[in-house]
Amino acid sequence: MGLCTALCLASKGFDLLGVDIDKKKVDSLRGGKPTIYEKGVKPYLSQALSRGKTRFSDKFEVLAGCDLIFVTVGTPSLPSGGIDLSMVLSATRSIAKVISGDFPTVVIRSTVIPGTSAGRVRPILERYSKRRVGKDVGLCCNPEFLREGQAIEDTLHPHKIVIGAGDRRSTRRLVSFYESFYGRPVPPFILTDYSNAEMIKYSNNAFLSLKIGYINTIARICEKIEGGDVGIIAKGIGLDQRIGSSFLEAGPGFGGSCFPKDLDALIAFARTLTAEHRILRAIKELNEDQASHVAMMVRDALGAVRGKTVSVLGLAFKAGTDDVRDAASLRVIKHLLRMGARVKVYDPKAMSNARLFLGDKVGYGESMRECIRGAEACVLMTEWREFSRHKPDYFSRLMKRPVIVDARRLLNTGEFLGKVEYHRLGLGKAHPT
Ligand code: UDX
Repeated sequence: MGLCTALCLASKGFDLLGVDIDKKKVDSLRGGKPTIYEKGVKPYLSQALSRGKTRFSDKFEVLAGCDLIFVTVGTPSLPSGGIDLSMVLSATRSIAKVISGDFPTVVIRSTVIPGTSAGRVRPILERYSKRRVGKDVGLCCNPEFLREGQAIEDTLHPHKIVIGAGDRRSTRRLVSFYESFYGRPVPPFILTDYSNAEMIKYSNNAFLSLKIGYINTIARICEKIEGGDVGIIAKGIGLDQRIGSSFLEAGPGFGGSCFPKDLDALIAFARTLTAEHRILRAIKELNEDQASHVAMMVRDALGAVRGKTVSVLGLAFKAGTDDVRDAASLRVIKHLLRMGARVKVYDPKAMSNARLFLGDKVGYGESMRECIRGAEACVLMTEWREFSRHKPDYFSRLMKRPVIVDARRLLNTGEFLGKVEYHRLGLGKAHPT
């Protein structure tokens, strides 16, 4: 989020200073080498560096004199499900110590629970800057809604801009910045206080998680209906504008750095308030259960899994990224290993990240072909296009037994059914012909 925000600012001609305490990242960016795999980042970075108005540093001191400072550090989960605020608070402290000039404004882009900006960030900012928020320093909460793989696109074309603040001057500062950033037409603004802005972010992500949990539930019912197909149901209900067609793709469950963590944080937060949150717990449980369901699809297809080689195609939590954090693939692999399978994995982008999580518990294929060769089942876990290019006989030729469990509903049903042992999530048994 930090890098994409920075590069989009640079692309619009702003003077840009990117700060990270990790010197390796800073050096890599200075050398034009992105630190993540993300569409558009490489060309945007080279362009930003060649224009000469973008600098990266590991020293907070360079921020002196900046008008706006976006805080985009992580807020990882604590064992309780709550979030670890230490990075947000220490970044705020370091920023507060160096800010100068007329009404510098700190913008919290990191996802934080309601109460954080006003109750935790503001006191630190005031104490270490020796300024008063609203008087001589600004503070806004401005949550982001960027999707990995489309972060640049989403930054340039957001569906809304949410700004929470406790004073008019901070709000005005950020509104006028976004007006100059976007020009006309400006995306819709939601101007509110800190807590509502913080809550919008969590409610937004939890609602999308709910849609996924819902369609996965419908998929499980469809699997028990003769001729049932969740794809047709999703299309049918998605045309109702009150429902909408997005986030209705049934699959192995959501993953990534946001949905699972944000759901946990919202549950933990609701618990501290003793507020009703059963639906949130249900989404979480369903999502975890969906991975075990995929593993059971493999078991049911194979009879028994113990000692058999199962290849897992796709490790990234979705296509277009090398991120495996909280990926459904890792949950499914855990179940398969527990059932005694020998697991072999492949992902076109996420192999090195996956190694950090999986170590030597699994085998690694250097290519799709290498991964499925000799396997008795393969599970499609990420919707990479590379996986859908092949015909059924590609699998039959390479695999010991061509059992395909398509957890992403990626392959063409008509082409695969009957040619290999094809099991598609959300698809019921065929009508008897
Ligand atoms: C998400 C939010 O979309 C974004 O607004 C927020 O700020 C950050 O978190 P991201 O984590 O990049 O973005 O991924 P997203 O595209 O939302 O997908 C999340 C997970 O849900 C993925 O594992 C994806 O495969 C899964 N998903 C998504 C489904 O299973 N079905 C769908 O229909 C959509």
